[in-house]
Amino acid sequence: MSELNKIALKLISDGKGILAADESNGTMSKRLEAVNVNSTPANRLLFRETLFSSESMKECIGGVILYDETIRQTTKSGKSIPELISSFGAIPGIKVDTGAKDLANSNGEKITEGLDGLRERLKEYYDLGARFTKWRGVYNISEKNPSMLAIHTNAQALARYSALVQENNMVPIVEPELLMDGEHSAGVCLIKTSEVLKKCFEELILHKVDLSGIILKPNMILSGSNSKEKISSEEVAQKTIECLKNSVPTEVPGIAFLSGGQSEIEATENLNSINKNNNTKFIMTYSYGRALQKSALEIWSKNNDNIEGTQNTFNHRSKMCTLAAQGKWSYEVENK
Ligand code: G3H
Repeated sequence: MSELNKIALKLISDGKGILAADESNGTMSKRLEAVNVNSTPANRLLFRETLFSSESMKECIGGVILYDETIRQTTKSGKSIPELISSFGAIPGIKVDTGAKDLANSNGEKITEGLDGLRERLKEYYDLGARFTKWRGVYNISEKNPSMLAIHTNAQALARYSALVQENNMVPIVEPELLMDGEHSAGVCLIKTSEVLKKCFEELILHKVDLSGIILKPNMILSGSNSKEKISSEEVAQKTIECLKNSVPTEVPGIAFLSGGQSEIEATENLNSINKNNNTKFIMTYSYGRALQKSALEIWSKNNDNIEGTQNTFNHRSKMCTLAAQGKWSYEVENK
């Protein structure tokens, strides 16, 4: 077993999942302002430190994805944020892309940037304690999109990123996200997601990336957020598993889904159904941002000193997700 494969498995085994707390300052400001909190470095640290000190960090959270600002911050007790995360047995990770920009000559599509100088940045992040990384490619679904241009350019960027990350002894999370926005059916989402994933793996293989030392972070197969079609979590599971079976090489140890705008309950219920029906050899878990933090942020925003209430809410959500990652979640345990 390679070192990278060991790190990947440690992040996602035994029902553990990944906390995606890597919102850029721009995104985090939107989240905080939506609950009437000023987005200052101190407030961003306070909320994140509260989550990273929660009890469920031990049994539920295998790793935390950080943003550049956070990996450099220090807690009240003088520990660095990576030290705090590691003290619970979880692994610190870092988002290394610099965001999605307009793709020239496309119809409103995006290309993720951040490759220039990446090798040097990776060395610094390793020294700061990171042992895994994240890069998100983003695609919108419409009749013509994602285009071949967006599919090719983003797959190539994901592969170049992954090769550099492995060269620096870290596990790359490969995140190609097809957005939920739109009126498309789940069937269309399945076809387009398969096309994107297949191209990503073609490029990863071309760039000689060790597939046993990556984690794939895809979207689930869902109907668009403005679609009239409503499908059950069993159908989400069946289509998601079909897509992954057809598009992902078996060397990949695991899949950690993004929540992508699903509610906390939807993201939990769908992950649970996926695991109840999982007939693949992939570990299927979560790498949620909003679906792990939303309720905790609401509680915290009402009173920043309510550490216990915020942590209890976060502990509950992460426990529910961890049960779902084992196919053991139900509405009964949710509401107990
Ligand atoms: O890149 C996206 C985040 O890592 C996952 O966030 O679960 O809110 O979609 P989300």
